[in-house]
Amino acid sequence: MTMEFSVEPTPTPTSPERLAEILAAPGFGRVFSDHMLTATWTHPDGWHDAQVRPYGPLSLDPATHIFHYGQAIFEGFKAYRQPDGGIATFRPEANGARFNRSAARLSLPELPVDDFVAASDALIRQDAAWVPSAGEASLYLRPFMVATEVGLGVHPAQEVTFLVIASPAGSYFASGSSQVSIWVSEDYTRAAPGGTGAAKCGGNYAASLVAQQEGIDNGCEQVLFLDAVERRWIEELGGMNLWAVRDDGTLITPELTGSILEGVTRDAMVLIAKELGHEVEERRIDIDDVRKGVDSGQISEVFACGTAAVIASVGTLKWRGGEVTLPADTPVASALRTALVDLQHGRRPDPYGWMHRVC
Ligand code: COI
Repeated sequence: MTMEFSVEPTPTPTSPERLAEILAAPGFGRVFSDHMLTATWTHPDGWHDAQVRPYGPLSLDPATHIFHYGQAIFEGFKAYRQPDGGIATFRPEANGARFNRSAARLSLPELPVDDFVAASDALIRQDAAWVPSAGEASLYLRPFMVATEVGLGVHPAQEVTFLVIASPAGSYFASGSSQVSIWVSEDYTRAAPGGTGAAKCGGNYAASLVAQQEGIDNGCEQVLFLDAVERRWIEELGGMNLWAVRDDGTLITPELTGSILEGVTRDAMVLIAKELGHEVEERRIDIDDVRKGVDSGQISEVFACGTAAVIASVGTLKWRGGEVTLPADTPVASALRTALVDLQHGRRPDPYGWMHRVC
């Protein structure tokens, strides 16, 4: 089925003056555009009632499944203003495909990738004025799917709601583009073999927060998780994938094991790094090798990547009883970042066919 959308424009659109103010300093995830998309799935009828409507609160019964059993998944991708004034999104099909892998793992219904993309396009077209044109800012799209069946029986919900909301986005980190600090979590793990680590589900993020708070308490902005079995192999950060750069220019990132999120930016990095002449190794990475490598200089850069974070260079790696500091000069992360961002903003050709023109 191809989803059909009805459109109900908001009677109270944000004024151009207020919108200009918001777009001048959007931060991350604080302000939402005038509209949202909602669609309902019920068993056995499937998807129906897709509508673009005014952004606003949902009214939900307190016994709605999502409040109790956490059956929920989400995605994140961005829309970018192009040099000709049009709008394009970055790899929305890849996010749509991952959304379906997450849905399968959480016993949620499939949403055809074409519908996922068309739904986001419909919202972007409605709120086109919310796509910033200055600097590296963009409009962050947050599609999500939640169990909206009412009742306390534990079973896959027979009623589900799909929503897309949008928020203008600048830098994810409050510190802007300076280097971020990372806390190595030794007590908590994020995902175990056979678990939901590769799915983009709210529960993974909920499980990361106690470690994230430990990181904050220790002066760090992100937390690094190790594998749940040996507590030795690097997995990922609370909200992004991790890379190390060896002094010979080789890029290394943890291989996808089923417990790591299959980052769309991570995947783009593999190809862009090769385009820029780097060798890329996807393999297990021992945290001790990273600590020693940074100390000896054999690892010259560490950086995080994700849709929200883009490419964020890491300045410090800290753990209970120790820390190592990375050089402030980050030529590799900077070049990768420029290559990615220029492609997304239409300032260089897109040899990969990643950009999806919306309007
Ligand atoms: C994104 O980068 O889009 C994410 O989903 C991570 C976010 C939770 C910070």
